[in-house]
Amino acid sequence: MQQTQNYIQANKQRFLDELFELIRIPSVSAAAEYKDNMLRAATFIEQQLQQAGADRTEICFTNHHPIVYAEKIIAPQLPTVLVYGHYDVQPADPIELWDSPPFEPIIKNGKIYARGACDDKGQMYMHIKAFEAMTATKELPCNVKFIIEGEEEIGSESLPYFIQQNAEKLKADVLLISDTNMIANDVPSITVGLRGITYVQVEVSGPNRDLHSGTYGGAVVNPINALCEMIAKLKDTDGRITIPGFYDKVVELSATERASMAEAPFDVATYKADLGVEALAGEKGYSVPELTSIRPTLDVNGIWGGYTGEGSKTVIPAKAYAKISMRLVPNQTSAEIAQQFTEHFKAIAPKGVQVKVDFHHGAEPIVTSVGSIAYKAAEMAMEKTFGKKPIPQRSGGSIPVVQLFNDMLGVNAVLMGFGLDSDAIHSPNENFGLFNYYKGIETIPYFYYYFAELSK
Ligand code: BES
Ligand code: MN
Ligand code: MN
Repeated sequence: MQQTQNYIQANKQRFLDELFELIRIPSVSAAAEYKDNMLRAATFIEQQLQQAGADRTEICFTNHHPIVYAEKIIAPQLPTVLVYGHYDVQPADPIELWDSPPFEPIIKNGKIYARGACDDKGQMYMHIKAFEAMTATKELPCNVKFIIEGEEEIGSESLPYFIQQNAEKLKADVLLISDTNMIANDVPSITVGLRGITYVQVEVSGPNRDLHSGTYGGAVVNPINALCEMIAKLKDTDGRITIPGFYDKVVELSATERASMAEAPFDVATYKADLGVEALAGEKGYSVPELTSIRPTLDVNGIWGGYTGEGSKTVIPAKAYAKISMRLVPNQTSAEIAQQFTEHFKAIAPKGVQVKVDFHHGAEPIVTSVGSIAYKAAEMAMEKTFGKKPIPQRSGGSIPVVQLFNDMLGVNAVLMGFGLDSDAIHSPNENFGLFNYYKGIETIPYFYYYFAELSK
C-alpha cells in the first residue's frame, strides 16, 4: 500500500478542493426546495466515482431522492467491499448561529467548517479518494461497490425497496461505513453498536378555533398546556420513561460488559464544562456513556403552537404540536415502540382535547460483531495509521442502513468512523478536522488490504 500512500500525499490539496465543491451543493434532504441540489450532488458524486476508476456507475431514481451506485469488480474470487455513505445533510438552521456561511466551506484552526463537512460528505468522500488512490496505483485488493444515498437524515425510506430490488447487485462480504465518531484523535475507536429510533409528530386539538384568552381563558382546555402536561408525564422523577412496556425488551448489559465500557476514557466535569451545563439528566444508576449508548431515550425535538411572533398576542390556540423521538436499544423495535407510544399518549390526554400521532420514521438498533474478519481488518488498519489499537465502542446515533443490510442481505457492517463528538454535526458550525479527513483516506486502503489478506 506504499504507492497508494504516496499517491494520497501527492494529491492532498486536490482531495480537499473536490470535497469543498461537493459541500457547496446544499443537499438538504428534509426540505423540498433543495430537490434540484439533491440531483446535482448525486450527479457530482457519480462523476467523481467514474473518475476515481469505477467500471460502472449509475444514478438510481427512487420515490424521493436518488441513490448513487458504482462498482469496480476486479476478480470474482476476491472479497467485495460495499461502501455506504450519504450525500444528504441536515438543514443549516438556525443559520444566524453560524460564524461563516454553512455551504461555503472554510478552514479554521485546522478544521473544515461547513454543513456536511463531517456528516457525511467529508467521511463519505474519504472513501472515494481512497478508492481512487488504490485504483490509480493498481493496489486495489478487493472488489468494490458503492451505495451513496440521499435520504439518511430523513430516515432512509427508499432504501428497503431499493435493497430488495437490487439484492443481487448489492451482494458483498462487508458493508463499510464512515459515518460515526471516534473517542478522540489519540484514542481511536470503532463503533460496534447504534441505537434505533422511533420518530413521531403529535397534534393536540382543542376548541374549533383560536380563542381570546381573556373571554375564554380559565374554562377551555388550552392544547399547548395540555401537550406540556402530557409530555411531562412521559418520564418519572428517576428519569425513566413511563410508557407501559417500553423497557420490556431492553437488553441489560452484564456487569463485565459495563465494566469494560467504563474503561474507555471519559470525564464528567469536562463533558459538563464543554456543554456549559451544571447538571445532567437521565435514568438513575447509569453513567453518561451508558445513558448515551446502551439505554433508550425520549426527547422532544420541536414544539409549537399559538403565537410565537414579535410582541404578544393573547390567544388560546386551537392546536399544539410536537416532534418527539425515542432512541432504541436492542431488542426494542421501532414499530412496537411507536405503537406503545401512540396508545399511551392518547390515554394520558386530558378530556377536552383530541390527540393525533403520526409516525415519521424509524430505524432499528444494532450491535455489530467484534469477532469478524471485517472488524479485525478495521482494527488492524487503524492500529497501522494511529499507532494504537482502536477501542470498540457503542454509539448513541442511528444509521438505518446497518440493520437493513444485516436483515435483508445478511451483510454485516463495520463502522469505521473518523469524526469526533466535538464536530458539531447537525449543529451550527459543523466541522471536520483536516487530520481526520486525511487520516481516514490513509486508513481505508489498509482496511481493504487486511480484509483481503484475512479473507484468504
Ligand atoms: N451520522 C449520523 C449518525 C451518527 C452520528 C452515528 C454520530 C454515530 C455517531 C447520521 O447521519 C444521523 O444523524 N442519523 C440520524 C438517523 C435518523 C434520521 C434515522 C440520527 O441519528 O438522528
Ligand atoms: Mn451521517
Ligand atoms: Mn446525520
